[in-house]
Amino acid sequence: MPTAPQSTAPIGVFDSGVGGLTVLHELLVALPQEDFLYVGDSARFPYGDRTPAQLRAFSRQIADVLLERGAKLIVVACNSATSSALQDLTAHVAHSGCGVDVIGVVGPESNLAVAQTRSGRIGVLATPATVASGAYERAVLAADPLVKLTSVACPQLARISQDGAPITEADVDLARMYCAPLREAHVDTAILGCTHYPFVGALLQRLLGPQVALITSGTAIARRVQHALSTRELITPRTGEGSYSFLCTGDADAFAEVGSRFLQLPMGAVDHVELADASTSEVPA
Ligand code: DGL
Repeated sequence: MPTAPQSTAPIGVFDSGVGGLTVLHELLVALPQEDFLYVGDSARFPYGDRTPAQLRAFSRQIADVLLERGAKLIVVACNSATSSALQDLTAHVAHSGCGVDVIGVVGPESNLAVAQTRSGRIGVLATPATVASGAYERAVLAADPLVKLTSVACPQLARISQDGAPITEADVDLARMYCAPLREAHVDTAILGCTHYPFVGALLQRLLGPQVALITSGTAIARRVQHALSTRELITPRTGEGSYSFLCTGDADAFAEVGSRFLQLPMGAVDHVELADASTSEVPA
């Protein structure tokens, strides 16, 4: 019989790589007493080019790793996985009978963008998988059916962040091209619909103009996580600082090096976790 989630257990967080560390950063600031366990699936980065069936398979596999290690809540810190796999993952975790909730980044971010806009014109920059899923259209229009949403798929933008290499003129030209439809639509609010994008937030802000409010997944989700823990009576009883640790499926040293820039806090050790080859496995819809 599975045991109920424990308040002293860690919060599990995952992404395709280092991008979700921008979400973890916000969670560490908002919930300093909590413990966190982060999984970066860097061996299978980028998720933005994956099929929905692959994203469902990868998400289930990682959630199982987090549940085996006793996570009390799972945060999908990846917009691509959230867009294509959140529903399936929620059902998968519920089916295990562990009583753990799964929270994704798209809903909270969409609600925050709708609350922020004054003109009703919102832009979203995201991976091809996220844009193709239509998840932001559904979430934004559910919050306000009159909002005009302009979505742009940005195939290379997550790679620029994941590489950790200095930003080049070619990167700027690419970002300028991605931002052009948002400028033409005169959006006053832009959703960074990929957890890797805050790393190029300054570049995007400059290209979109200072009048555009950037909405990130991290800021939006922290309050949602706090709420989930509190209503389920899962807030840690600890009063001091919690701990955080990392697993990644690719090269642990490379992950630690780039990751520390995203997290803006010391990373400590990163352990490698080997997942059964799910690179070709798919969970049908
Ligand atoms: N960080 C991931 C997201 O939020 C995607 C980057 C990728 O793996 O393509 O969508």
